[in-house]
Amino acid sequence: MTDQTALKRAVAAKALDYVTEGMKLGLGSGSTAEIFLELLAPRIRGGLKLLCVPTSERTAAAARKQGITLASLDDLAPLDLTIDGADEADRNLDLIKGGGGMLLREKIVAASSKKMLVIADETKMVPRLGKFPLPVEVVEFGHKSTMARLASTFTGLGYPNVPMTLRQKDGEAFKTDSGNLICDCAFGAIQSAPKLAAALSTIPGVVEHGLFVGIATTLLIAGPGEVEVVER
Ligand code: A5P
Repeated sequence: MTDQTALKRAVAAKALDYVTEGMKLGLGSGSTAEIFLELLAPRIRGGLKLLCVPTSERTAAAARKQGITLASLDDLAPLDLTIDGADEADRNLDLIKGGGGMLLREKIVAASSKKMLVIADETKMVPRLGKFPLPVEVVEFGHKSTMARLASTFTGLGYPNVPMTLRQKDGEAFKTDSGNLICDCAFGAIQSAPKLAAALSTIPGVVEHGLFVGIATTLLIAGPGEVEVVER
């Protein structure tokens, strides 16, 4: 097991403390969330009663494989808690998500939850978001025009020449669970996540973006020998 995998395991194990009988729980996506799922499954098989909603088709498949019954968000919302990973986090509990391309459902599920617990290892912590390229989900129709609008919006906000890459998988455009494309925007450093998030939300063709601002309520950070808890 690599050091980072051990940290992911430690933080996923700590997240179990936040799960209580009868909860309506959002299941995050990504490798840390999947480790959490592996640790949660034996408890469910042992009798813990939960109502679970997945944030991606991949998580849904992993949960079913573990024998976890799933429900739809619209039947259960608001959820009590969503537990999910992050690609980057700062100490204000703002995040970049979407490295796996699941940001749209992740954000819908988190926004439909009373609380969001983020599980991260210390490599995800940054003083300023943006080193991880920000994923922006765009509709395929007119996506080149949408990307041009993104570029001019970025310039207007003081970020000229942000490298933008249309995400590929197996030599083809990557498609999200909702059939959209992902444009990864390499800011380097984001000066104001709330300002950028607000601007992105107004661009026609943009479905959603990976900035999670003011959504997470608790952040668990695994470092060697301890898991730190940061509350909003
Ligand atoms: C999925 O789209 C992402 O938002 C993940 O939550 C994020 O990439 C964290 O994944 P890892 O736990 O694999 O680093």
